[in-house]
This record gives sequence, structure tokens and C-alpha cells, in this order.
Amino acid sequence: MKLITTSNYEKLSQQAAVETISRIKRNSSLNLGLATGSTPTGLYQELIKDHKQNKTSYKEINTFNLDEYIGISKKDSNSYHYFMCEHLFEHIDIPLDQTHIPDGTAKDLDEECKRYEQFINEHGGIDLQILGIGQNGHIGFNEPGTPFDSRTHIIDLAESTRKANSRFFDSLEDVPKQAITMGIASIMDSREIFLLVSGASKAKALATLMNDDISEDFPASALKNHGNVTIFADKDATALL
Ligand code: GLP
Repeated sequence: MKLITTSNYEKLSQQAAVETISRIKRNSSLNLGLATGSTPTGLYQELIKDHKQNKTSYKEINTFNLDEYIGISKKDSNSYHYFMCEHLFEHIDIPLDQTHIPDGTAKDLDEECKRYEQFINEHGGIDLQILGIGQNGHIGFNEPGTPFDSRTHIIDLAESTRKANSRFFDSLEDVPKQAITMGIASIMDSREIFLLVSGASKAKALATLMNDDISEDFPASALKNHGNVTIFADKDATALL
């Protein structure tokens, strides 16, 4: 894993954007894996700025999001569908039918997991996957203990994850208990991965990732088995390295 350290979050977002845009310039029909959470929003802002200033086009890009809450409709402001439209899709020239997110309201959720996994494969797999990390090491919504050979599946969210994400909801009770997430093996199939780590609250997670052994108890450690991962971390996140 290659580690790029930046002085602050703004620089992290800018550097990750420069690298992402270079992949899009190299391959105008890139399959781009996307993440939600606060961390990638700065990157998305930089992509929007670049699209407006330099006309980088997303007309042939397909995007694949990592995860979605179960039981929240696409129109709900807490859905990841809504989040992605608001933070990125509405502001670039990507046709919405080329943006793909698991459907957390599907009648048959197991079938939806299979469909999503197959759908990504039919599109030729993900060229570049953007990832954040949870304080407990989760990637996507793969909580500690998720098998490394997992494919897109339904996950029970850890209490700590629900608490961390309750900041977006009216109350903790409103945070869904389950989500659909790409599995660890699905993520590892990506040809390249950018992991964004920002802030003091992620310092322990980054230190565990860099210093400890590979273990299913710390999902992000699977990335050590991947040959093409770049970690973008700001100074606060590297405090314990
Ligand atoms: C969420 C998302 C993850 C994200 C993580 C960290 O639960 N499912 O994809 O990486 O938590 O979020 P944040 O960037 O807001 O700290």
C-alpha cells in the first residue's frame, strides 16, 4: 500500500481528485466505485469544480456505489441514492442510468445482492474504487468479522457504526439496522483502490491498518493483500503512525 500524507483535508481531497481525474482522462469509460460518508465529499467537490472548469466528462463513466441502507427509499434524504445525487451526480454530466447503487428497498434483498454483484461483473468490474474507513476498520459496510471471501451481502450494522452515522439522522432509533454492501472480495476485485482517511477520529484505525496483522476482525486489513492501493491521509489521521 502506498501512503500519501497531506497537511490537511482540503489537500487530501485535491490530491485524490488529481489522481481520480487522471484515471478518467486515461479511460473515458472508467468503471468508478464510489463511497459515501463525510470523507469523500471533499473529493466530490473537487471533481465537480474540475468538471465545471476543465470540462472533464462523465458521459461514458459508470459508477458503482459500495452500499445502501435497507428499508430507506431512494427519495429519503438519508439514503445513499440521495446523498450521491446531492454531492456529485447532479453536478456533473453523468447520465443517471449509468449510476448504480444497491436497492435497499428491493422485495427480495438476497436476489438484489446477487443481481448487483453480477451486474458489476457484467460491466467488466471496477477500475477504480474510492473507499473511506470506519473507526472500527469497516470498508463499505463490512463490519469486523466479515469473511474476506464475502460478496455483496446483507449486513447487520455494528452499534458503533449506527451511533457514528446517527449524526445524519434525527435520532439513533432512525438509523437502519441493516444495509446491503459489496463484500470484501467484491472490493478486492477492483483493479485499483484509493482509501481516504481524514481526521483525528480515524488515527487509531489508520495505525491499526498500517501496523497490525491482516485479520477479519479489522476488515480494511484485507487491502494489504491488494497490489494497487493508495492511501490518502491527512496529518490528523496520521497522528498515531
Ligand atoms: C459509512 C460508510 C462507509 C464510510 C464510513 C466512514 O458507514 N458506509 O463507506 O467509509 O462509514 O464514514 P465517514 O467518512 O463519514 O467517517
